[in-house]
Amino acid sequence: MNNFELYNPVNYVFGKGQIEKLKDLVPANTKIMIAYGGGSIFNNGVYDQVKAALSTQFEENNIVEFGGIEPNPRYETLMKAVEIIRTEKIGFVLAVGGGSVIDGVKFISAAVNYKGDAAEILRKRILFTDLSQVIPFGTVLTLPATGSEMNSGAVVTINATHEKLTLGGSALFPKFSVVDPTVIASLPKRQLQNGVVDAFTHTMEQYLTFKHDAILQDRIAEGILQTLVEIGPEVVENPTDYKLASNFVWSATMALNGLIQKGVPSDWATHMIGHELTALYEIDHARTLAIIGPNLYRVMFETKKEKLAQFGERVFHLTGDSEEEIAHKAIEKTVEFFHTMGMKTKLSENTEEYAKTADFIVNRFEERGWKALGEKQNITPEKVREIVEMSY
Ligand code: NZQ
Ligand code: ZN
Repeated sequence: MNNFELYNPVNYVFGKGQIEKLKDLVPANTKIMIAYGGGSIFNNGVYDQVKAALSTQFEENNIVEFGGIEPNPRYETLMKAVEIIRTEKIGFVLAVGGGSVIDGVKFISAAVNYKGDAAEILRKRILFTDLSQVIPFGTVLTLPATGSEMNSGAVVTINATHEKLTLGGSALFPKFSVVDPTVIASLPKRQLQNGVVDAFTHTMEQYLTFKHDAILQDRIAEGILQTLVEIGPEVVENPTDYKLASNFVWSATMALNGLIQKGVPSDWATHMIGHELTALYEIDHARTLAIIGPNLYRVMFETKKEKLAQFGERVFHLTGDSEEEIAHKAIEKTVEFFHTMGMKTKLSENTEEYAKTADFIVNRFEERGWKALGEKQNITPEKVREIVEMSY
């Protein structure tokens, strides 16, 4: 097992009715901003619950609201919130929404005190480790998928240049996250499907590499994958079933709160390529992963075949005459699972203009100096091209 440090300071508040606890979680001695997305929180009662919880501690004039954070949050929109925080002297931000709102708030938190052009935070991948430099924030999660509620990473799009870039650092963990599984009842089927596939792929990025000595991490990852395979198709049909909802939400958090990544190699190339498909064509994040993931496993088969076979045997209970046979079956079973989850696994099924996608992505990766991705740093620009072209 590789050496590691495990640091996760998020106060994770889970369960039915927990939004009420905001009255104790949000610091009362400061002006706060409630940040949200396109308005789903007004239709599903989450906004009312948040306001009711805060009403005992806060005067109306100590709460500023900032709405309109888009799915795949835009730098340009987030900078408007940054300006408001600076002028209104806001000391705490409450993100109420899915991964996009939470990621947006992480960027806002980092940008408020940043000296210089805030786009550098994304372009230069500035790491935020000093708590005194960021604005503290908490979250109320409404969409299980990204794990953003319990990690310190974020993804933000610069609209002007169609760049989808990451930021992060140990100062960007939420102070707390309130996670009430009943809030998923109002999610459209498409978003429920996305959540399952995103969480599944997060687990795969940290698991589907090569065989190593971290037995427990493998077993935890396989437990998350099995749970998602077992409940994924059902939770999409019955999001009001608390047993399904609670297990789904917890699986999505566990898939990307840092735990399963400790002491093991990880890949993340599916995400890096997938982000470009969202930047280019606005394809939902999870759907880009379903397009790229299986083809990455095919192209990188020699590197990944031992782990693919382990995955096939332990998660899908596949059998076969050889490791290779089970590994191939495991890829096909994954595609089948993605189809069950409503994914269209070809790029051409998601967008009509795709002919120059591989050229675009390869050029962009080369410009950024990304010449060696994956757990063995052997996903070269040529391999990226092969993966993307196979995905057409
Ligand atoms: O904006 P509103 O009106 O709230 O509607 C949202 C949005 O339209 C809606 N929604 C959310 N909760 C709802 C709801 N509708 C009804 N009922 C509810 N309870 O769902 C739509 C999608 O929301 P979004 O936040 O965009 O989805 P998701 O949570 O999947 O987040 C995707 C973003 O997270 C990034 C992705 O790249 C993408 O930008 N990721 C962040 C990661 C991280 N921070 O660690 C890792 C991931 O790999 C991912 O890259
Ligand atoms: Zn993801």
